[in-house]
Amino acid sequence: MKAFQLIKYKKEQPKYQLNDIEPQTLGSNDIFIKTSIAAVNPLDNLISHGELKLVVPYSLPQTMGNEFVGTIEKLGKKVTNFKVGDRVYARNPLNNIGAFAEKVVVDKDAIAKVPDYLTDQEAAAVPLTALTAMQALDLLNAQAGQTLFISGGTGSFGTMAIPIAVARGLKVITSGNGKKQAEVEKLGVSQFINYREEDYSEILSNVDLVIDTIGGKELEKEFKILKPEGKLVSLRAMPNKAFAKNMGMGSFKQILFGLAARKIEKMAQKKHQTYNFLFVTANGKQLEEASQILAKREIHPALGNIYSLEETEDALNDVAQRKSNGKVLIQISSDKN
Ligand SMILES: NC(=O)c1ccc[n+]([C@@H]2O[C@H](COP(=O)([O-])OP(=O)(O)OC[C@H]3O[C@@H](n4cnc5c(N)ncnc54)[C@H](OP(=O)(O)O)[C@@H]3O)[C@@H](O)[C@H]2O)c1
Repeated sequence: MKAFQLIKYKKEQPKYQLNDIEPQTLGSNDIFIKTSIAAVNPLDNLISHGELKLVVPYSLPQTMGNEFVGTIEKLGKKVTNFKVGDRVYARNPLNNIGAFAEKVVVDKDAIAKVPDYLTDQEAAAVPLTALTAMQALDLLNAQAGQTLFISGGTGSFGTMAIPIAVARGLKVITSGNGKKQAEVEKLGVSQFINYREEDYSEILSNVDLVIDTIGGKELEKEFKILKPEGKLVSLRAMPNKAFAKNMGMGSFKQILFGLAARKIEKMAQKKHQTYNFLFVTANGKQLEEASQILAKREIHPALGNIYSLEETEDALNDVAQRKSNGKVLIQISSDKN
């Protein structure tokens, strides 16, 4: 099968190759899937630039790609809840990425059935961001009635996170691209702040929860608007000791991340606030729950440019250069949906 592989980590111009490789062997808990479409995320570039080596140390060559939709072709002996021909999707498990390939072999616990209302193209854009939203809200222990601020909620993550948070009874406020204001308001945002025109830290205060998608200097502002003892989870800033512990990392990495996030932890401590970092993991059950929430309101992710497997490097550059206004896709099998 054809697989798009990283062969050299590099900050500028990592080296890739489209290789002909054997699919993995099917374990008893695995599902063998013919990939229809994969989606490209900022995460894919972070991986090939070597920026996540401490979190996910892949040895090369590594087939790239973190989420996909496809059709089941074979089932492992112990798989009972799926059948051949099912249309399924997933965020790949961290130790088994490789969605940019004609076939994927993935543990059954990572997989969920695709809701009928989504086309394959739309479905490919759902798993990673929907799971991120579910896991961020769990990490925050978000409760109905609380106020949640999402920085940069006008992208792929926001499209999933806003309706999921609203379904959980949260009041959602977001900052983002002004051109997307009407879209996010339709998703249920109760207050929108155009980041190019206004400074939300001058407008908001006493927010219960924050999901940060920007990182860097933004954190100071986010802690400022967060109430005392409020909770912040970042998708973009520095992993901390609690994250390393949650991910089952050894004491060396726990100490390392503890030191790296020291400045942020200090910021949080001033008002007894909590800081956490999230790196989204595969979870079929959680994806099934998210799918039900999204299906109820027929939420459709925004789609960007579509590339072939041969053009995957261009797709990665498209995401890096922010050329598309929606999720960038790789059409892998020729059966269009
Ligand atoms: N840790 C994890 O597991 C995880 C999982 C999912 C996503 N993420 C991260 O979350 C971030 C967002 O992902 P995404 O897929 O939603 O990206 P995206 O589709 O590119 O959307 C980002 C959105 O944020 C807006 N934005 C940019 N700078 C901003 C600022 N200073 N203030 C407010 N809004 C701003 C952008 O508007 P413009 O069009 O004006 O640029 C865009 O609408 C990425 O950094 C991604 O790596 C992490």
